[in-house]
Amino acid sequence: MDRLLANGTFIGGPPDLFDIAGDCQLGILKHFGMSSESKVLDIGCGCLRGGRKVIPELNSGCYFGIEPNKEMLEAGLEVCIDSSVVSEKMPSFDNNADFNFGIFESKFDFVMARSIWTHASKNNIAKMLDEFIEWREPGAKFVTSYHRARIPILGEYHGTSWVGKSHESDEGGVVRHSLRRIKGLCAERGLTVREFVDERFDFGTQIWLIVE
Ligand SMILES: C[S@@+](CC[C@H](N)C(=O)[O-])C[C@H]1O[C@@H](n2cnc3c(N)ncnc32)[C@H](O)[C@@H]1O
Repeated sequence: MDRLLANGTFIGGPPDLFDIAGDCQLGILKHFGMSSESKVLDIGCGCLRGGRKVIPELNSGCYFGIEPNKEMLEAGLEVCIDSSVVSEKMPSFDNNADFNFGIFESKFDFVMARSIWTHASKNNIAKMLDEFIEWREPGAKFVTSYHRARIPILGEYHGTSWVGKSHESDEGGVVRHSLRRIKGLCAERGLTVREFVDERFDFGTQIWLIVE
């Protein structure tokens, strides 16, 4: 971890939460039924803060990560996970910034997006939901997190672009969405969404959402 910090590479969140963030991402996937055979797509997998915990638990070829920030992913592959684990588990990665899940030509049992909807526009979220519908296995779950806009609808993000660090920006920032609006985006597509609060998997200030 020190090497990453010394290199100035963004590690996905506060350093003191790095390890617990990975444990919680693995824990919530397992809670909702992830097994070694599950196919897991990690959107915005960053430097593998979650992937370094999830990849060892899966069979070879079952982990897929999308990360447009190539340097961040490369640093993660170099520092955060054993090269022997990568050779054995053969995770697949892509650098597209279009939320294109189809690039892997696989269907998924779980889609994970931790600390992604906290930066994404509603257009981005809608695209992720559309891709989830197209590329999910029956019974698949979309496990994501958000910052809830305060009541009365204070801080609801209406912009159309990503806010925060990315392949295009070094500037931090977060956005908020109301559960009502997220529910609307899901309902338009025949999906349901619910908040999931469980101290075993909670860290930081984001709230987990389960879409199915
Ligand atoms: C706050 S970090 C979270 C990383 C990781 N999910 C974790 O928990 O550590 C947000 C990540 O989203 C990535 N990102 C930015 N724009 C994206 C896009 N259009 N598609 C997918 N990921 C994107 C960033 O590069 C960054 O790695």
